[in-house]
Amino acid sequence: MQIGVDLGTTNSVVARLDENGDPEILENERGERKTPSVVQFPDDGGVIVGTTAKRNQMEVPDRTVPRVKRHMGDQDWAVDIDGEEWGPEAISAEILKKLVADAEEATGEDVEEMVVTVPAYFGPKERNATLNAAKIAEFDKEDIELLNEPTSACLRYGIGDTGAGTVFVYDMGGGTFDATLMNVTPDGEFEVEGVKGGQRLGGEDFDDELYDHVRGEMIDAGHPDPEDNSAMKADVYEKVTDLKHDLSQTESGSISPMVGPGDTFNIDLSRDEFDEITEHLVDETFDYVDALFDHEKVDATKEDVDELLLVGGSTRIPKVQERVEDYFGMEASKGVDQDYVVAEGAAIQTELEPQGGGGGSIVLPRDIGLKTVDPDNDKETFEMILSEQTPVKASESKRGFRKIDKQSPKITIEILEGGKALAEENDKLGEFELKNLDEGSDPEFEVTFTVDEEGKLHAEATNLDTGRKAETTLEIGLTEKEIEGHIQRSEETHDDSVTRD
Ligand SMILES: Nc1ncnc2c1ncn2[C@@H]1O[C@H](COP(=O)(O)OP(=O)(O)OP(=O)(O)O)[C@@H](O)[C@H]1O
Ligand SMILES: [Mg+2]
Repeated sequence: MQIGVDLGTTNSVVARLDENGDPEILENERGERKTPSVVQFPDDGGVIVGTTAKRNQMEVPDRTVPRVKRHMGDQDWAVDIDGEEWGPEAISAEILKKLVADAEEATGEDVEEMVVTVPAYFGPKERNATLNAAKIAEFDKEDIELLNEPTSACLRYGIGDTGAGTVFVYDMGGGTFDATLMNVTPDGEFEVEGVKGGQRLGGEDFDDELYDHVRGEMIDAGHPDPEDNSAMKADVYEKVTDLKHDLSQTESGSISPMVGPGDTFNIDLSRDEFDEITEHLVDETFDYVDALFDHEKVDATKEDVDELLLVGGSTRIPKVQERVEDYFGMEASKGVDQDYVVAEGAAIQTELEPQGGGGGSIVLPRDIGLKTVDPDNDKETFEMILSEQTPVKASESKRGFRKIDKQSPKITIEILEGGKALAEENDKLGEFELKNLDEGSDPEFEVTFTVDEEGKLHAEATNLDTGRKAETTLEIGLTEKEIEGHIQRSEETHDDSVTRD
């Protein structure tokens, strides 16, 4: 069987095509259509993924990992479980394993291949990390296809069947926001023209705002601070999320959080108040949208948009819909449940030719450059080589680089990603050296960065005086050996497990 997987920050969803070729959501072991993307390592061994892990997270915060997707591609991030480091790939692999096991249980069939969706703003590092997570979940590279989430939404809406055009996808889930501008070519291919996103902007920020509001009211009324009591805090969070969902349907609602044993406190909230409390978050999403259209590499304007798609649970918020539709002066396509559109599109992709390019045609989501030193003030700064929004595959060169220390026999080229003015504010992707330079010489260097269609970065530096070159192709993420190690550790951890759930 082939499945489509929306591996979300907050929730994950699995779909496949039914015998009529229509996408169907596969329920998990508990009969739920969404599985919370929460991984927990109980004290007594094993791994729990999903609703149980989410429910218990306040009790065992040190052994529970929510929102791992925010860390994909970050080689320095890991959680320590009994002295062992679990990185984002290893944690995500546990989610994938659970989704696959539940899909197999639900259908009685083996999962042989899967399409896993990734945000369009995922760069080479994050895509590679997602692929490696699937490998740790014991899938071979040829049995995994990555697909851009906005492309997936387009497939589900049948965009491309109706001809060429410009599509804007506004995707706000639980933990992330993505704005993607896509072109559908006359032969039905999807090209990403531009992408902007925040890995830290989503429905959970709305929950946080509501939590702060409710907490304030509780304290003002003389009740204990929920920050001091993890059970109370968990209770308030659960209730504010429910209230937020209710307010997408009704004009006002109320909640009664616990304030003591057997004692609750009633708080009313209207939709208008909710909109006011969360207005700045919606504003922030439009800062990204504006920045996308303002970018010099993006030709399209908001008036060029022919189709507007809303994706992600948080686009159920009426104010969000209203503001997006106002911004573009058009109605968004509706009809597919925002929560399932990505997984269902991925199920459709299982039957199509690969979109290629590591998930469909992409643009670089962030500037890539190198570290230089500003001779005026000795500050280490970022010098851009490849701009964000450049379609991949891409190659750019820049000249005019020189040695800092003229006596040095080598230069080190540090490759950075991020586009922030100060070097230290960017992520380091790697480095390489140009050696055997004559001491005291002052040659000019040319630097060329190339990203191939698989998203691999190749960097080259040439001494323009001698023509000598140094180059590197960045190996990003885990080695095959490390992946093998993770496969084994995961199996051992599962063997440990008692039957649960
Ligand atoms: N009716 C609703 N009204 C408001 N918010 C909702 C509603 N239904 C779901 N949400 C919110 O949507 C979010 C989950 O969305 P979704 O499942 O699309 O996220 P995700 O795909 O896991 O995350 P991401 O896209 O960030 O990776 C949660 O914050 C949830 O509270
Ligand atoms: Mg999502």
